[in-house]
Amino acid sequence: MNALNAATWLDPQLVAFYAADSSLQPPERQILDELRPRMARWSMLDIGVGGGRTTRHFAPVVAEYTGVDISPSMVEHCRREWRSPTCRFEVADVRDLSAFGERRFDFVLFSFNGLDYLGHEDRLRALQQIRTVCRPGALFCFSTHNIQALGHLMRLRAQFCRDPAWLRRNLANWWRWRRRHARDVSRVAAQRLDWAIVNDGAHECRLATYYVRPAAQLAQLQPAFTGIRMFSRAGEELAAEQFARVDDDWLYLLCRAD
Ligand SMILES: C[S@@+](CC[C@H](N)C(=O)[O-])C[C@H]1O[C@@H](n2cnc3c(N)ncnc32)[C@H](O)[C@@H]1O
Repeated sequence: MNALNAATWLDPQLVAFYAADSSLQPPERQILDELRPRMARWSMLDIGVGGGRTTRHFAPVVAEYTGVDISPSMVEHCRREWRSPTCRFEVADVRDLSAFGERRFDFVLFSFNGLDYLGHEDRLRALQQIRTVCRPGALFCFSTHNIQALGHLMRLRAQFCRDPAWLRRNLANWWRWRRRHARDVSRVAAQRLDWAIVNDGAHECRLATYYVRPAAQLAQLQPAFTGIRMFSRAGEELAAEQFARVDDDWLYLLCRAD
């Protein structure tokens, strides 16, 4: 992970931002609804748990829930909020999950594109670590930024909202991003790269974010993970022939560790 991302995630002020968000994103809702009937005996690992947005939805339906985060402040917040004998929270870095041993979990979640704040080698290492803590047949769910969306990132009209404070903040951030990063993003978008790391304005331009082509994402998962399903941001399952042209900024994946 680069120094910019490490410093951003360790900033205790981010806790309130993530703790304020409590709803599932449409594909997460769809996946939870589909899996719920099978989850009662599952042991779940929620990586990059943040302010516990997903805890409130997943912890009550599994037998055992473990949330981990690289940020001690996020972990402290979750420990204060969720006091249950079936829930635990630990500081851990996805690049080294050895503290959990092997074949420990039935379901692993890395939500809200958390995987995208690692560099390329670290991302591959994280996928390997996740595979190691999965029991055979376990499911792994995550979301990631789609490089096919780079051409229409940070459109000005997407910055408008009703709340005047957020509007001011969005516009200031958009202007900062445009001056410092827009040219680089356009240059990357013009190439047909499998993946790239760009500044897309997230957290006031304080993050470098990994964007990947859907086909390249599938290749990164195989052969360790199979039965790979991809969902649009609206929660629609994508057919294989849509992968090459889908231009949603985020993609959601569900796959099985065999
Ligand atoms: C975009 S936030 C998502 C928070 C939460 N999962 C949610 O959906 O609201 C990403 C989270 O991943 C954590 N994170 C970043 N890099 C990590 C790493 N290498 N290992 C574990 N957690 C990490 C950050 O501290 C942050 O809490």
